[in-house]
Amino acid sequence: MKKIELLSSGKAKSLYTTENSDQLIMEYRDDTSAFDGKKIEKLAGKGTVNNRFNAHVMQQIEKSGIPTHFIDEVSENESLVRKLEMVPIECVVRNITAGSICKRLGLEEGMELNPPTFEFFYKDDELGDPMVNEFHIISFNWGTEEDIEEMRELTFKVNDVLKKMFADGGLLLVDFKLEFGRQDGKMYLGDEMTPDGCRVWDAETRKKLDKDRFRQGLGDVIESYQEIASRIGVSLEN
Ligand code: ADP
Ligand code: TMP
Repeated sequence: MKKIELLSSGKAKSLYTTENSDQLIMEYRDDTSAFDGKKIEKLAGKGTVNNRFNAHVMQQIEKSGIPTHFIDEVSENESLVRKLEMVPIECVVRNITAGSICKRLGLEEGMELNPPTFEFFYKDDELGDPMVNEFHIISFNWGTEEDIEEMRELTFKVNDVLKKMFADGGLLLVDFKLEFGRQDGKMYLGDEMTPDGCRVWDAETRKKLDKDRFRQGLGDVIESYQEIASRIGVSLEN
């Protein structure tokens, strides 16, 4: 499948049309952004590691019965996906406290959450992706009650699959963000599941291995992404 025309370019990925109007090519670029695009750098090799990482994770998720937009890898940093009508909402599950919830609620980082907690954010960089609730989603027409139910259920299912996958690699899945969309009325997991959109710590040392290394200027960003990848069985060879 070949790229025809650039459809859109986000902070880290670009979407291209293909000969099939229901399918897009998603290109993972090396651009790395944090704080809603306020910090941006190119990190060599990130596009490739994230494309490979995402392909592996989406395939595992699909095997466990959750529909995803992923179809196939088409190059080291590009994948073919179903074209979705995206719900402009980010679904976040937290197994351990970190990031914005610590600031918002005055919590220490590293508290285990039992049961895990769930939050919706409205996707709008200018507003800083504010947290919203179910009523906002319906009143402002970002999604329906059915969208909300489905997204929440699928996100928790993904959490069960991924927590185990990471635990088997000696890793803690602290939190993650997912986006969903519909094609022909059916809800699919879209976007990506990579270390750009989740927090992952070494289970023993609690060393941060995800995009917090970039956000907090800790260094070795790509090396850490590669380490998570190899621990969960992602092949980074050509
Ligand atoms: P952002 O600027 O939001 O960080 P990215 O660089 O991650 O964006 O680009 C991906 C964009 O493509 C996002 O807006 C996302 O919602 C959208 N998207 C993800 N998967 C699909 C899909 N299967 N079909 C259409 N749009 C998608
Ligand atoms: P937060 O602690 O900043 O709210 O983020 C929670 C998780 O969701 C974290 O793993 C990062 C991810 N996330 C994104 O990838 N993009 C976003 O825009 C937001 C709000 C969160």
